[in-house]
Amino acid sequence: MAGKKLTVAVIGGGIGRAHIEEGYALNADRFEVAALCDPDAARRDAVADEFGISRRVASFEEVLDMRDVDVVDICTPPFLHFDQVRAALDTGKHVICEKPLVGSLQQVDALADLETRSRGRLMPVFQSRFGDGVQQVRRLIDAGLCGKAFLATAETCWQRGAAYYAVPWRGKRETELGGTLLSHAIHTHDVLTYLMGPIASVSGVTTTRVNSIETEDCFSASGTFASGAPVSLAGTLGSRTEFTRLYLAFEQLTVESDIHPYDYSQRPWRIVPASDEVRTAVETTLAGWQTVPPGFASQFRLFAEALASDRAMPVTTADARRALELVTAVYRSSELGKRVALPLAAGQEGYAGLLQ
Ligand SMILES: NC(=O)c1ccc[n+]([C@@H]2O[C@H](COP(=O)([O-])OP(=O)(O)OC[C@H]3O[C@@H](n4cnc5c(N)ncnc54)[C@H](O)[C@@H]3O)[C@@H](O)[C@H]2O)c1
Repeated sequence: MAGKKLTVAVIGGGIGRAHIEEGYALNADRFEVAALCDPDAARRDAVADEFGISRRVASFEEVLDMRDVDVVDICTPPFLHFDQVRAALDTGKHVICEKPLVGSLQQVDALADLETRSRGRLMPVFQSRFGDGVQQVRRLIDAGLCGKAFLATAETCWQRGAAYYAVPWRGKRETELGGTLLSHAIHTHDVLTYLMGPIASVSGVTTTRVNSIETEDCFSASGTFASGAPVSLAGTLGSRTEFTRLYLAFEQLTVESDIHPYDYSQRPWRIVPASDEVRTAVETTLAGWQTVPPGFASQFRLFAEALASDRAMPVTTADARRALELVTAVYRSSELGKRVALPLAAGQEGYAGLLQ
């Protein structure tokens, strides 16, 4: 059921521009972007002109007063997310919010609680789950073809230098809320746990070696999934060859992702079966595959479908919690020099803030 088009206000014209181009414009039967909010007048006008958006405002509060706006899409710097999501849910609007949703488990739990009392629903952005490569592996797992999980590794080796960190909110604890674990590898680790399930314990090291910033730009961690399989994570912002790579070893097959740093979700992943029998089962399961558009296009379409049918969001507040929990655990482990067990509940160290 398509229902009426959702009227959207985009807050922040940075990645917000990509949300419009790659998300809403490709689902024009479901969404109309009616307003753009950004205090930066030049950016606001440039993006609004490009996409023919007539309502342009500088203040977030003005958007909350727009009665016809169904969805507030928050694409502002991380330190603003908690207050803006809360205010939008308080007015009963639906909310899409960029990663990281917020800066602590306490805040994510507060939003989850508010969501149960609001007319509005909340969807955090984790667009890397969508695309053929990831979704085909997910289909094989759901079909029960993979067998016991043996091991997974995830590497997020990108390059970010002085120009990237010249943007004032980046690289600072107060405003970015964390470093590359929170801002970049969070996507890779969301894909990893989406496929492999939650991580049960982790031991990690974070450090700042590439840039002159407050937050970490290199990390490594090892741990175990709830299934018992070991996991290894690594990332740097100082890699001359940029890549994202996931490797999943199961009893019945092994999986290697494409290694394009950002488009790995869509491109074909290498699936190596343990036998001819498994190969046939894989081919049968994936026969007639319908392409899953990557990124915002699929995530936003599924958001509209979830609202229309009162189904679960394609990415939930619980997913954002799981992602924040892993970041919190690695930060705590690095600081304390010991293994940290998950899940982290209210009252445990790190619950109230990512960086102590
Ligand atoms: N999902 C992804 O792949 C992805 C990619 C890039 C950034 N992000 C996330 O998106 C968010 C924004 O990042 P960005 O790269 O677009 O940053 P940016 O600095 O390029 O853009 C943020 C915009 O928000 C505007 N802004 C600041 N305060 C505002 C307010 N109170 N109300 C409205 N607008 C306000 C700024 O003027 C700016 O134009 C961050 O949380 C970041 O982590 C996600």
